[in-house]
Amino acid sequence: MNTVLLTGGSGFIGGHLSRVLAEHGLNVRCLVRSTSDKEELEKQGASIVVGDLSDRESLTRAIKGVDVVVHAAGAMKSLTHQEMMRVNGEGTSNLVSVCANRTSPPVFVLVSSIAAAGVAMPGRPIREKDDCKPVSKYGLSKRAGEIAAAAFADRLPVTVVRPPIVFGGGDQHGFHLFQPIWRFGIHPVPGMRHRRHVSLIHAADLAEGIVLAAEKGARVIKDDAEREHFQQGCYFVSDPQHVRYSQLGTLIGRAMGRRLIFKLPSPDLVIIALGGANSCLARLSGRARVFSFDKAREGTAGHWICSPERIQQELGFAPKASLEDRLQETVDWYRNNNWF
Ligand SMILES: NC(=O)c1ccc[n+]([C@@H]2O[C@H](COP(=O)([O-])OP(=O)(O)OC[C@H]3O[C@@H](n4cnc5c(N)ncnc54)[C@H](OP(=O)(O)O)[C@@H]3O)[C@@H](O)[C@H]2O)c1
Repeated sequence: MNTVLLTGGSGFIGGHLSRVLAEHGLNVRCLVRSTSDKEELEKQGASIVVGDLSDRESLTRAIKGVDVVVHAAGAMKSLTHQEMMRVNGEGTSNLVSVCANRTSPPVFVLVSSIAAAGVAMPGRPIREKDDCKPVSKYGLSKRAGEIAAAAFADRLPVTVVRPPIVFGGGDQHGFHLFQPIWRFGIHPVPGMRHRRHVSLIHAADLAEGIVLAAEKGARVIKDDAEREHFQQGCYFVSDPQHVRYSQLGTLIGRAMGRRLIFKLPSPDLVIIALGGANSCLARLSGRARVFSFDKAREGTAGHWICSPERIQQELGFAPKASLEDRLQETVDWYRNNNWF
């Protein structure tokens, strides 16, 4: 493994990935759009190819001579379900198919999501062998990307990684979790009983998991494109500790030096109504928002916990720092970069 094509390098996770890939001594080439912010990537020494997941010709140019493709580009928000499917489903299909057409195809690592798998039963983290039951349009689109990649698994090595909530410096989407705690000491918690649990991973640890998956991960079997789950070649990359969503507020507050955090119970119906209102405003303004009806549906669906046992056992993965330390780093990043 020498040269890596990274998609989504201008995004939050991609920014961390590009740095970690370079730290591993790899040549990093980034596929970015003409409108993407390339400044940080150029500072990190990555080479740039301008293109788009919908433009197969640009993808063919971008994959020339690379040993590995890490596909981290994706749509986390959109005005319509079709738009999300176009990027996460068809975009992945375009990229994997041009890779498969090469005489010696690269290893293909897809950054999917726990949303493709769906929610866990109380007290039982979801595992790779569980059947996928996405509960949101976003989850359906990420699952469509997984199926598209698996459909080519007889022609190139494919590995799928599924992160849960990813956090870290530079995350705009996740900032809404930190900001109310910083400003008002308030942590809104979906549901009335404060019982929902979540798994998390810091973006730098996720990037290390992705490097392991590229280097020595098992590969997906093509027949699994027709099944409800992957028998191999798919990994949840998560911190082993999962926490109650309400407790997450306490941990973030502690990292900010706040001892008292008010956990604001927010009934599911209220969350759904606010998500619906936000979706309407997004349509009126023509600008997609992260918190939407679809996100509200996810947030109220249940426990978003997964087991990292497979990646720990097969690839020796472990986060480099504790969840508490990673939250501290993230708070420090937001503070030092004047985001608060
Ligand atoms: N953040 C999380 O908590 C989380 C959790 C699980 C999985 N994931 C997955 O991780 C991946 C990265 O997420 P993120 O949080 O880093 O999102 P992000 O900050 O919104 O970044 C998305 C990236 O995808 C690029 N992109 C979007 N549409 C594209 C297209 N048509 N062609 C080429 N590039 C395109 C964006 O380019 P521009 O800069 O030009 O917009 C950007 O670089 C996504 O696939 C997401 O589904 C994220």
